[in-house]
Amino acid sequence: MFISITAYNNDQKAFQVPCEPDRLILDVVNEHYSDPKREGIPFICKKGVCRSCVVHVLEGAEQLVPPSPLEQRALQVGKTTIALGYRLACMTRFKKE
Ligand code: FES
Repeated sequence: MFISITAYNNDQKAFQVPCEPDRLILDVVNEHYSDPKREGIPFICKKGVCRSCVVHVLEGAEQLVPPSPLEQRALQVGKTTIALGYRLACMTRFKKE
């Protein structure tokens, strides 16, 4: 199984990655790049604060754990709400199966 996402802060760059149980989207995508902040999903804090790692989940959202209260707060307003399919890649894990 795969998920399809785009990186909101990297010109909507598209990624399709395999579901890897209990791993973060950010790690699964960025481990393939030598300069992940430019080539993959951008990030700064990895703590759910800066919102640089926002991704739009196009397919496979059911493979992801539900958002934590921290992630819900971070994505509460604006064009990148969870209701529209956005998540924080640094906070979002694949389900354990
Ligand atoms: S890297 Fe800062 S919120 Fe994800």
